[in-house]
Amino acid sequence: MYNAAQNIQEEDFMDPLPYRLRAGNVLWQKVIQPYLFKKDPENAHLFTIRTLQEIQRSGLTPLIRFLFQSNHAQSLRNITLVGGVAWKNRVGLAAGFDKNGEIIDACDAFGFGAVEVGTVTPRPQAGNPRPRVFRYPNAGAVVNRYGFNSKGAHEVASNITKTHRNHKITCPIGVSIGKNKDTPDDRAVDDYISAFRILAPVLRQNIDYMQINISSPNTPGLRSLFDRLDEFLSEFRERIGRTAKWDVPLYLKVPPDNLTEKQYIHIVELAARYGISALEATNTTTNPNYKEAYGISGAQEGGLSGEPLREISNAVLAFLYPAAKQHHIDLIGVGGISRTEHAVEKLARAKAVQVYTGLVFRGPILSHEILESLQTPKARRIEKDGLTIRV
Ligand code: FNR
Repeated sequence: MYNAAQNIQEEDFMDPLPYRLRAGNVLWQKVIQPYLFKKDPENAHLFTIRTLQEIQRSGLTPLIRFLFQSNHAQSLRNITLVGGVAWKNRVGLAAGFDKNGEIIDACDAFGFGAVEVGTVTPRPQAGNPRPRVFRYPNAGAVVNRYGFNSKGAHEVASNITKTHRNHKITCPIGVSIGKNKDTPDDRAVDDYISAFRILAPVLRQNIDYMQINISSPNTPGLRSLFDRLDEFLSEFRERIGRTAKWDVPLYLKVPPDNLTEKQYIHIVELAARYGISALEATNTTTNPNYKEAYGISGAQEGGLSGEPLREISNAVLAFLYPAAKQHHIDLIGVGGISRTEHAVEKLARAKAVQVYTGLVFRGPILSHEILESLQTPKARRIEKDGLTIRV
C-alpha cells in the first residue's frame, strides 16, 4: 500500500501540450503575469476584470478559447454531476475571482467546469479599506481581507441576465451569497434570503446553483453562524421554499478553522437534513501557524489561500468524507491546488475541485494540466480506489 497521489509521475502525463496552449502559456508567462505582478494585487485584479470585459465586448472570447481552453474542457466524457449540477468537467473556478458576474463569458471561455460568481451581498457595499489583498510568491500564497466588496444582488442579477442575452454560456454558473456587514448577526438569515430572492430568478433551471457562504473570515461574526447552523438552515429552507419556482441546488462552503471532526460530521448531517447537495471544502484560513510554517509569519491579517492551505483543507475533506458518502452529499475540494497532484489527491474524496490562488501563480494552464492528468489510466484508477491503492 502506498500513497497514490505521491506516485503520479510526470511521465504519466504523456500527451504533448497542444501548440495553441503552448503559445497561450508563453504569452501568460512572458507577458501577462510579469505585467500583472508589477501592479499592486488589487489593481492587477481590477485590470484583469476590465481587460476581460473589453475582450467580451469586442467579441474576442474565441481567442481566449483558442489560447487557453483545454481540449478536455468540453469533452462529453468529462461531464460530472456535482450535487445535482452537471459540471462540464471537474475543475471549477472558485468564488472571489468574478465577484460581480462581470466576466462570466470569459471565464467560460477559459474552460472551467463551473464558474462560481460572488460572493454577492444583498445591498452594495465597499468592503474593507485598501490595501486588502497581498501576494506571497515564495509561499505560493495570497492573503485577502476584502470583506465582501460587492456591487449588490440587483446589479449582479442584471449582469447575469445581460450575459445570457449576449453570450452562450456552456458551463453552470454558481452564485455565492453572503450578508452585508451592517446586518446584525441574529438577522443574517434575512440577507441570505433576500440575496436568494433577487438572484434565483436569473439562474437557469436545472443548470445553475447557489452557494451559501457563511465561512468567510473577513466579515466579523459570520463564521459563528456555524454554531447555530441548524436554526439558520431550517429558517433559510423554510422561507425560500415559499418563493422558489424550482429547486435550486444549494452548496455550502465550510471553513478550515476552529471546527472539530465531530462538528464537520454534524455539518454533513444538517446539510442532508436541509437539502444541501454539495459541500465546498474549504474557504481561506486565519490560523497564524500556517503563515509561520510557510515562512510568511509577518504576513498581513486576513484569509490565507494557496499552498499553505492545502493540507488543512485536505484534512477537512477527510473529516467530511465518510459522512458525506453515507448521506450522498458531494464534496468539492478547494484550497492550495497549484499542481495536478494536488487536484488528484483531493479527487480521491471530492467529486470536483475549484481553483483560485494557483491560477495567480501558474496561470490558466493549470486547468488544462489537471484535466490532462485525469485522462491517464493511472489517475482514473486512483480516483476510483481512493487515496491508497494496491498495484
Ligand atoms: C477568495 N475566496 C472567496 N470565497 C468565497 O466563497 N467568496 C469570496 O468572495 C471569496 N473571495 C476571495 C478573494 C480572494 C482574493 C481569494 C484569494 C479567495 C476563497 C476562495 O474561493 C477559495 O476558497 C480559497 O482561496 C482557497 O482556494 P485556493 O485559492 O487556495 O485555490
